[in-house]
Amino acid sequence: MKIKSATYSLSGVKAEQYPTTGLPEIALVGRSNVGKSSLINALLNRRSLARTSSQPGKTQTANFYLINEAFYLVDLPGYGYAKTSKVERARFSSLVANYLENRETLRLVLQVIDLRHPPTALDQDMFRYLHDLRRPRVVVANKLDKLKRSVVEKHQRQVLANLSGLATQDLILFSAATKQGVPELWQAVGTALQKE
Ligand code: GTP
Ligand code: MG
Repeated sequence: MKIKSATYSLSGVKAEQYPTTGLPEIALVGRSNVGKSSLINALLNRRSLARTSSQPGKTQTANFYLINEAFYLVDLPGYGYAKTSKVERARFSSLVANYLENRETLRLVLQVIDLRHPPTALDQDMFRYLHDLRRPRVVVANKLDKLKRSVVEKHQRQVLANLSGLATQDLILFSAATKQGVPELWQAVGTALQKE
């Protein structure tokens, strides 16, 4: 996909604050610090459009980025951040749950995980949750650059074994640092946007 324009639109914490343009949305979910905001920057080839941080819990609102005046990338708060309340840690924030359950313009969810480690219990919960909601999704296994080439396949198999029902073609190995996987991810986004 050719990026003609990418701009930050708005941030919100509830539906009334979200865009009312009706344009389709591609949302990112995943553990805090897994690299969701970095992934947005890598996709858009922009250094710091989406705010990133080595401190987990950076993104606390739903942040909407308008791409090519045609669709939004939506950066959602991460889950599993130890310093948030117990209730939030147990599952996903109500912001994330409300968005995923109710947002009509949502076309595809990018579930971001860390390829260095097997999916966590929360990753597995999210995966099943998206399945139950019948939300189209791809799993993006980030931080590929941190693995030795010789162990990548083993880690890939571990992801597939731990997220049951995940098809190989719905798993994209990715690195926000080296931009590996960017073309494959745009391909998945493009396909989702073409579907009604
Ligand atoms: P929250 O907003 O807290 O939910 O986190 P996030 O998922 O948006 O993570 P963020 O993009 O802020 O990245 C967290 C840290 O991981 C930062 O220090 C990034 O530089 C680093 N990081 C993200 N992606 C990669 C990657 O592919 N490779 C490497 N080596 N580091 C990465
Ligand atoms: Mg973030």
